[in-house]
Amino acid sequence: MSSLWDDPIANTLEPIKQEEKVEKKPLEVDSPGIHDQQEDAGLTGFEDIETGAGRIQVDDKKIINCRADLNQLVPFKYDWAWSKYLSACNNHWMPQEVNMTADIALWKSEDGLTEDERMVIERNLGFFSTADSLVANNLVLAVYKHITNPECRQYLLRQAFEEAIHTHAYQYCIESLGMDESRLFNMYREIPSVAKKAQWALPYTQSLGDINFKTGTAENDQRLLRDLIAFYVVFEGIFFYVGFTQILSMGRRNKMTGVAEQFQYILRDESMHMNFGIDVINQIKVENPHLWTEDFKKDMTKLVLEGVEMETRYAYDTMPRGILGLNAPMFEEYLQYIANRRLAQIGLPEEFKNAKNPFPWMSEVLDLKKEKNFFETRVTEYQTGGALSW
Ligand SMILES: [Fe+2]
Ligand SMILES: [Fe+2]
Repeated sequence: MSSLWDDPIANTLEPIKQEEKVEKKPLEVDSPGIHDQQEDAGLTGFEDIETGAGRIQVDDKKIINCRADLNQLVPFKYDWAWSKYLSACNNHWMPQEVNMTADIALWKSEDGLTEDERMVIERNLGFFSTADSLVANNLVLAVYKHITNPECRQYLLRQAFEEAIHTHAYQYCIESLGMDESRLFNMYREIPSVAKKAQWALPYTQSLGDINFKTGTAENDQRLLRDLIAFYVVFEGIFFYVGFTQILSMGRRNKMTGVAEQFQYILRDESMHMNFGIDVINQIKVENPHLWTEDFKKDMTKLVLEGVEMETRYAYDTMPRGILGLNAPMFEEYLQYIANRRLAQIGLPEEFKNAKNPFPWMSEVLDLKKEKNFFETRVTEYQTGGALSW
């Protein structure tokens, strides 16, 4: 095979095979319009560098379908994205910093935990150990390519790393407690209540991951917006909340405090992910009001309600009997309360009249002013560049 330039590794590589043309079936999730007019599609980062082009002005920037250079972070247009990136970096933590000694002793003791409590811990570690990989896949394989703004992309990169830290944290809990790793990591394929949420979310990633998919038409831009709502509002904004509340309330009762501390840091990150996603969704709406049609609004409300239904099922499945002063009907109300908030945050009317928050203490956990306490409770210091051994 001849090469246009002197590529030193070309001879060691297998020749690239011509891709066979495969007739694509339409995706399960309604996905019309991929091949519609594409002239309005934004840049992705695959384009050649345009030498001698005019310098970027703030007004050139757009959150989707932008055709200004994506490789220049400044001038900033979306200060909220950059400030969330900075806050996320200030909140950096690692799972090994959390002391797990008391958890290991409690988990291994004969009578420290009831069977119901053990089930709650295992099911949640089972769900979360793979859930964050699904979010990370959605970010890097689907969303990132179509968000055409460098400061938002900077936050997405930070978020992707945080998802890796979260998966690491769940693995660290599972390993520390000496659990059956294979059983826990396979729960999302084997336990229906855990599997359902993952199965529900995946088509939204697949829908954008289609190699032919481009934004730039109303239908396709709605498709991106729908994926953002599915992941940021439903997956990270609803599907995490039963598990977080169950584990954190265990920590409040002095049980599994290490696992609870890991979940607390994760919850703080997740709440920022969700708020970032909501800012992106609202910014897309501001810049593209034609996407926010009555039909689309109805579909998005339906999406949120599906999420509530599935998470309510998860509450009943993980907690068939009440424990720790919690029971599944309380979660039902909590989810309705959360759903009202999520709907309002993206400009949709609330669906559940008078739903109250049965867990007001969860709002305290989410209070970002606790940053200071977080750093005071660190059990180890970071290694700096000078301290690392090579
Ligand atoms: Fe996460
Ligand atoms: Fe997240």
